[in-house]
Amino acid sequence: MCGIVGYIGNNDSKEILLKGLEKLEYRGYDSAGIAVLNEAGVHLFKEKGRIADLRTIVDEKVTATVGIGHTRWATHGKPSKVNAHPHQSASERFTIVHNGVIENYEQLKAEYLEHVTLKSDTDTEIIVQLVEKFVNDGYGVQEAFQQTLKALKGSYALALLDRENSDVIYVAKNKSPLLIGLGDSFNVVASDAMAMLQVTKEFLELMDQEMVLVTRDDVKIFNLDGKLIERMPFIAELDASDIEKGTYPHYMLKEIDEQPFVIRKIVQEYQNDNGELVIDPTIVEALNEADRLYIIACGTSYHAGMIGKNLIERLAKIPTEVHVSSEFSYNMPLLSEKPLFIFISQSGETADSRAVLVQVKEMGHQALTITNVPGSTLSREADYTLLLHAGPEIAVASTKAYTAQVAVLSILAEVTARSKGLALDVDLPHELGIVASAMEELCDARDEFEQIASDYLAFARNSFFIGRGLDYAVCLEGALKLKEISYIQAEGFAGGELKHGPIALIEEGTPVFALATQENVNLPIRGNVKEVAARGANTCIFSMKGREMDGDRFILPEVHELLTPLISVVPMQFIAYYAALHRGCDVDKPRNLAKSVTVE
Ligand code: F6R
Repeated sequence: MCGIVGYIGNNDSKEILLKGLEKLEYRGYDSAGIAVLNEAGVHLFKEKGRIADLRTIVDEKVTATVGIGHTRWATHGKPSKVNAHPHQSASERFTIVHNGVIENYEQLKAEYLEHVTLKSDTDTEIIVQLVEKFVNDGYGVQEAFQQTLKALKGSYALALLDRENSDVIYVAKNKSPLLIGLGDSFNVVASDAMAMLQVTKEFLELMDQEMVLVTRDDVKIFNLDGKLIERMPFIAELDASDIEKGTYPHYMLKEIDEQPFVIRKIVQEYQNDNGELVIDPTIVEALNEADRLYIIACGTSYHAGMIGKNLIERLAKIPTEVHVSSEFSYNMPLLSEKPLFIFISQSGETADSRAVLVQVKEMGHQALTITNVPGSTLSREADYTLLLHAGPEIAVASTKAYTAQVAVLSILAEVTARSKGLALDVDLPHELGIVASAMEELCDARDEFEQIASDYLAFARNSFFIGRGLDYAVCLEGALKLKEISYIQAEGFAGGELKHGPIALIEEGTPVFALATQENVNLPIRGNVKEVAARGANTCIFSMKGREMDGDRFILPEVHELLTPLISVVPMQFIAYYAALHRGCDVDKPRNLAKSVTVE
């Protein structure tokens, strides 16, 4: 969701900015722009659509050693060239890029900018107009910037250029992610490290309500009262090759294929020299001391949380609830006496989840974040973190992060159970090894899944995924994958619920995918399949070795029953991928979606 880049140095900034924006494409966007500043003034290029479209309008002849850039995911005002960033003040002296939502922009407009004619429908334009207003009132630029920041309510990561001074980029952050990258005679600004790995691996983290002056040779961080803050840089443990597609046509396909490796890596990361799985004892203690766990997450991570609940309750015997973040923050249920909150988030930046984290921390509760991104906001602000070790996930549709979340939750459940002396019938490192091999088998069977996508979804307008127990959670994820990238309406249902309403939607030929991997519900789910088949549905059953029956379309390799979600999701991912591909959809960057959802 919205990405920011900035460069100040001695080289031409255009290509660095454009390449940086390309690396942020995965976050999701609908328009993009850059502004560069040289002796002749500010040169502004912006366009609706892709970075490739922006490239066609950037004037090659313009050279400038300072600039800012942006990918926009519309919040205020529709996607258009006018609403694309950068935005400029009335006199065009100031130019800004912004990520976040200014909640009091209407109020600021009424209070300070009554006589200013705004050019766009964005909340962002208010910020840049306000800086100019304060400068016109007699403040120096730094003070005007500071005054503006103090007036803003909401979230922002922003970078501002002053036409009168090409030696500085003014930067600020509150609730939206932003980093400063450090170089030799240059410095950069980026929403995430990936955007600027092309020029540096050394970064400075910014905290909320900080303001930064970035020059060619220096970076000065201030709080909003103007107090200088010292901060040590960190080295981003990322390899540029981790974020390349290599020979793959799409990141999503690469990331599906990486899953066996990720599962093995997770086992390695969480195993001690004796081959036992280990987790920081303070985290295990926190789980054991809690009388109830509250898993908080959105989308795919929520689906992983549903499986986590099941694993924790079955293995560690701790009552666990799972909640959608955006619901929890406005409709908090009655909490237990000693809750522990577990936030699951691939990006670690999801605003809906962060809102809950802020609330529960204010209430004095403990929180654990399970995330793929070390140093992310949710990781920094929780008491404890467990990492997914999945490597950067670039495709908007989450695949390997989901299976990594389930695997890490299984380890958390197992280690906690063992710490309580509970008898376990699962040798988890061994069983996860079997899962990794089973995933490889499934990746090798991709042609079969392509065929299924073509047989069932070529002309489909809608589709259903049904299952019971753990399979139900995977069905929700399978349906989400399909709808988000192929735009075929897809809904997941608990098999037993169908007859209570959804079955009315079944027509001749409606595709219904059913998962049948769970022993205790094998017969009931098959009964549900018969019910829809009798009404004309085109049914496709995925069962598991040992539970197969005549007519099953695909038999998954056998894995421990608790770990079936790790493998039954793989065919769902491939089917979604091929269905989207056959329809000519942009698999890695589906419409309207963002990878890192940093607004509520
Ligand atoms: C779907 C998907 C989203 C995310 C959700 C939460 O493929 O990726 O549903 O799971 O936006 O994001 P994180 O996990 O970053 O908090």
